[in-house]
Amino acid sequence: MPKRYTVTSALPYANGPLHIGHIAGAYLPADIFVRYLRLRGEDVVYVCGSDEYGAAITMKAQKEKTTPRAIVDKYHTMMKSAFERFGIAFDIYHRTTEPIHTETSQGIFLKLYEKGEFDEQESEQYFDEVANQFLADRYIMGTCPKCGNENAYGDQCERCGSALSPTDLINPHSTLSGSKLVLRKTKHWYLPMNKYESWLKEWIVKEKQNTWKTNVYGQCKSWIEGGLQSRAMTRDLDWGVPVPLPNAEGKVLYVWLDAPIGYISATREWAKQNGKNWEDYWKNPDTELYHFVGKDNIVFHCIIFPIILKAHGEFILPTNVPANEFLNLEGDKLSTSRNWAVWLHEYLDEFPDKQDVLRYVLGSILPETKDSEFTWKDYQARNNNELVAILGNFVNRPNNLIPKFFAGVMPAQYELSDYDKNVLAELASYPDRIGDLIKNFKFRDALSEVMNVARLGNKYLADTEPWKIKDNPERIATILNISVQIIANLSILLKPFLPRTAEKLDKMLGFDGKLTWEDAKNTNWVKAGTLLQKIDLLFEKIEDDVIEKQIQKLTINNQQQTTNNQQSQTIAMANHSNEVKPLQTPINYDDFTKLDIRIATIVAAEKVAKANKLLKLTLETGIDTRIVVSGIAEHFSPEEVVGKQVTLLANLAPREIRGIQSQGMILMATDKDGKLRFLQPSEAVVNGAIVS
Ligand code: MF3
Ligand code: ZN
Repeated sequence: MPKRYTVTSALPYANGPLHIGHIAGAYLPADIFVRYLRLRGEDVVYVCGSDEYGAAITMKAQKEKTTPRAIVDKYHTMMKSAFERFGIAFDIYHRTTEPIHTETSQGIFLKLYEKGEFDEQESEQYFDEVANQFLADRYIMGTCPKCGNENAYGDQCERCGSALSPTDLINPHSTLSGSKLVLRKTKHWYLPMNKYESWLKEWIVKEKQNTWKTNVYGQCKSWIEGGLQSRAMTRDLDWGVPVPLPNAEGKVLYVWLDAPIGYISATREWAKQNGKNWEDYWKNPDTELYHFVGKDNIVFHCIIFPIILKAHGEFILPTNVPANEFLNLEGDKLSTSRNWAVWLHEYLDEFPDKQDVLRYVLGSILPETKDSEFTWKDYQARNNNELVAILGNFVNRPNNLIPKFFAGVMPAQYELSDYDKNVLAELASYPDRIGDLIKNFKFRDALSEVMNVARLGNKYLADTEPWKIKDNPERIATILNISVQIIANLSILLKPFLPRTAEKLDKMLGFDGKLTWEDAKNTNWVKAGTLLQKIDLLFEKIEDDVIEKQIQKLTINNQQQTTNNQQSQTIAMANHSNEVKPLQTPINYDDFTKLDIRIATIVAAEKVAKANKLLKLTLETGIDTRIVVSGIAEHFSPEEVVGKQVTLLANLAPREIRGIQSQGMILMATDKDGKLRFLQPSEAVVNGAIVS
C-alpha cells in the first residue's frame, strides 16, 4: 500500500478554451481516480495549472495582435473557471508564469547543468529573416515523417505523438511570415537521451509491461527500441523561463522542460498554502505518481520528463501514465482551428445544471483504448435512456413512495426473503469490483457497473412491486428499506463519477458527507426512523429541439470559421508569395528539348485497387491512346477528372506501377497546402499539341 499519491493532469496551454476532447483525455479520468482515492481516505494531492510559456502562446499573441501576457491571463482565467464549474477537483490549479515556477524549474535546470547532464552544442537552426527570430517548435510546420500528418510541429506531431526536431519534418515551412527559411548558428543545451536507453529498457520495457496500458507501453517500447536522440532543452524565444546561466541572454527553457516541472511547482505552492511538505509528494518512495494525459503527450511524460527526474536524482518516477486516445466529434476530429468542438464554457453556460450529464456521457465513451466519438444524439440517448430511465427512475420510486406510505420516515427491515438476501449480497459485491476497475483505469467499465447498481434497484422494485401490495405493510417496509440501502450505496459509488448527483442523494438520505468507499459494502446502514427528504427529479428528458440546436450550432461555427480561415489564408498568400523552393541548378536549352511535353485529354479514369493515392487514367494524346498511373487519387475523384485537358510528359520511359504499365507523367502544380492543380491550356487545344 502506498502511503501517498501525487496525481497530475496535463497542464493545458493557455492559448484557447477547453473542449470536451481535453476533458475526456486528461481531466475527467484523473478526477474520477482522485475522488475515488479520497473516498478511500488516501493521502492524495491532485495538481494542475495552465501551461503559459512556449511558442503555443507567443503565436497566439501574434495572431491576436496582443501580448503573451494578455493571452495567458485571458485563457488561464477562462480555463480555471470552466474547470471549477464543471467540477474537476484539483487541489490547486496553478500557472507556470508564477515566480515559484521560475524558481523551481531554474533550480532543476541548474542542478542538471552542474551534474554535467547537458551537452552544450552549437548548431544551425531555422531563422526567419522577416520576423527576425529563430523558429522554435510550432513556428515550423511540416509533414510528420512517422505518420504523414501534414500539420506536424517542429517539436512534436500531435497526431501520432512523436517527438520531433524541425529537421525531421518533410517540407518544413515557417508558420510566421511564410518567408524563406535560412539557417543560423545558435548555442543550446541538449539532453543526451541516448545515454538513458538502457535504463529505459529496464524501467519501462521490462518493468512496466504488465501495468501500463497497451497503447502507452507499445508507443514507449517502439521509441526506446528505435533509438533516442539528443534533444535541446533550451530555445531562442523571448517568452519562457530564462536560462539561469551567464551568457544565455534571449534563451529560455524549452516549454516541454518547464511545463512538467509545473506539476512540482504547483505542489510546492499547494503545500505552502496548506502546511504540507511538498517533498513528501515528490521525493518519498512511498508515494505513487500518476500522470493523466492525452496520447500526444505520452513521449514527454513517459520518456523525457522521467529522464529529467532520474538525471536529477532526488525525485520519484511515475508509477503509471494512463494516457487516453482521442475523442472525435460527430464523425470528425475535434479542431480548434476549424471550430469543430463542444466548448466546455459554452456547454456550462447553456446547460448550467447538467455537469453530471456531460460527465456521464464522456465517462461512458472515454477513449481509453482507442479513439471514440461524441455525438449529440448519443448524448441525448444516454441522458434519456440511461440517466432518466434507469438511475433517475429508480431513485424516484422510493423518493415518492416513502413520503406517501411512511410520511418520509425510513421504514424498518422485517423478515428477508431469499431474493432480498441475494439482492443485498449482490449490492455488497460492487464496491470492490468498481474500485478494482478504477485502480486499473477502466473508468468506462467502472461507470457501467455503477449503473448496474441502479439497474439492480429497478429490477428489484419491478419484481417486488411494493405499490401493488395491499395487505402486508411489513413487506412494503422491507422492500422500501432495501431500496433505500441501494440508493445509499449508490450515493457513495456515484461520488467519483457524478458528484452533484451523489450530493442530491446525500441530501435525500440526510448524510453528513463523511462516508467512505468501504461504507458501501455495508448494505444495512441507513437506520429505520431516519427522516428522509424528498428531492427533485435527478434528471430530465432532453428533447429533440435542444439537440438539433447544438448540431446546427456546430455546423454554423464551423462554416464561419472556414470562411475566416480562407480569408486570412488568401491575405497571407498574397503577402508572402515569396515562399517558394529555391531554384534548381541551371540546365541547357538542349536538356530542355529532350522533354516531349504534350497536351492530352483524360477520357477515362478509375481507382487503382488497394492504392489510396493512385488513379489509372486513359489519355487521348493525339499520338495514341495510352494509360498513365497518377498519384492524384487523394485530390481528385475519377469522375471529376474525366474530360480534362492536362499536360503530359509524353516521352518518359514506361514504368510498371502496381502491375500497370504507365506511359508518361501528368504535370501538376502543388499549392502551399499541398493541394494539386492541373496545368491546362488557357483555351482548349488539339490533343498532341506541343508544350515548349
Ligand atoms: N500544454 C501541453 C499540451 O496541451 C501539455 C503540457 S503537460 C505538462 O499538450 F506536463 F507539460 F505539463
Ligand atoms: Zn506523426
